[in-house]
Amino acid sequence: MPKEKLISVPGKDYFAYKYREHTQMKHKMLRCYLEKWLIILGKYHSINYFDCFGGCGLYTIDNKTFDPGSPLIAAQIWQDKGNQANNLRMVCIESKKKNLQNLETVFNDYHPNFKKTWFVHDEFDRTVNAILDNIEKSDKILAPSFFFVDPFGFTLKYSTIVRIMSVEKSEVFLNFMYDSVQRHLTNPKVENCMDELFGCEQWRDIRKCTSVKKEQTIIGLYRDQLKKASSFVMPFRVCYPDRKRTIYYLIHLTNNLKGASIMKSCVAETNNGLLSYLGKQKDQSTFFETSGYIEEDLNTLLLKQFSSKKMTFNEILADLIDSTQYLEKDISSAVLKLYARNLASIVRVSSKKPSSKPKENDIIEIY
Ligand SMILES: C[S@@+](CC[C@H](N)C(=O)[O-])C[C@H]1O[C@@H](n2cnc3c(N)ncnc32)[C@H](O)[C@@H]1O
Repeated sequence: MPKEKLISVPGKDYFAYKYREHTQMKHKMLRCYLEKWLIILGKYHSINYFDCFGGCGLYTIDNKTFDPGSPLIAAQIWQDKGNQANNLRMVCIESKKKNLQNLETVFNDYHPNFKKTWFVHDEFDRTVNAILDNIEKSDKILAPSFFFVDPFGFTLKYSTIVRIMSVEKSEVFLNFMYDSVQRHLTNPKVENCMDELFGCEQWRDIRKCTSVKKEQTIIGLYRDQLKKASSFVMPFRVCYPDRKRTIYYLIHLTNNLKGASIMKSCVAETNNGLLSYLGKQKDQSTFFETSGYIEEDLNTLLLKQFSSKKMTFNEILADLIDSTQYLEKDISSAVLKLYARNLASIVRVSSKKPSSKPKENDIIEIY
């Protein structure tokens, strides 16, 4: 990874990083999701936010105005919209001392009253495993927790992600550095690292793939591995702003259907309806098709996959949310249209009016 240039902030004793377009997109997605999900969860519980690769805290586009990094985004959202009767506890892990000191100084300058924050100067993997060890030993239960895993490289252990996801009500938003991974696929020095990243040895077979198939195969293998640990796994492609190439995938892992649906809608909301950020190019397909939703295709899918079955709306949604390009609102509109054409029945359990879109526990029968 090239060394980041440190940009000094006038009148302050801290610095910022250059704010690149793909990082802005990453923050938009994160912000959109946290604004909805942290707030929903925090209504009833104290919650935890782990910024596992905390960064330096601040970014700038023009060296004059400054934008917050991920820990400050989470703190701001909680201060503006969180239920203050509960706590948001934040843990910011950063292995580079200079970055951690900067992050802490920026954080205290922006959020002097935010007391429940721990800044840990250490490696993500060691820190998170130590926290989980302690919780296991003490028989305590971890409060619902969001882990933002945003490294520069690919030294991530699959086993640690699996361990996080085995804790009830934990979820992960993970940056899978695809471009670095594909460049090092044939590097013998990082074989162990790749084994740890994928949690298997099958990535070796991908070395023979042609470049067209390579991307889908790499992300497909990683997703299949993650699916063993998480009910819903959604990779969203992020390209270099100025090149027709993927830089990374942001992957959301959750065991909560509502969480998966909200994240998917957030990605579409921040990318003009697409489930990926394509930079200046607009013409490539992704893990999810980027062409937007085609109503007739969804109708055909619903009729093919669910006909003669009685299912709740949530069961249909759970089947489709991370395996197709459709959003919850697309699926509920399509079911309502089938109902209007007498191709489906809806028993209203969660929705009220006969004309409203079906939701949650409504029982759907597609003929
Ligand atoms: C992409 S930046 C994080 C940016 C931050 N999440 C944000 O959005 O504002 C990655 C950071 O992880 C730090 N880092 C690298 N390896 C690490 C490790 N093993 N554990 C914790 N931090 C690490 C780097 O020093 C760098 O500051």
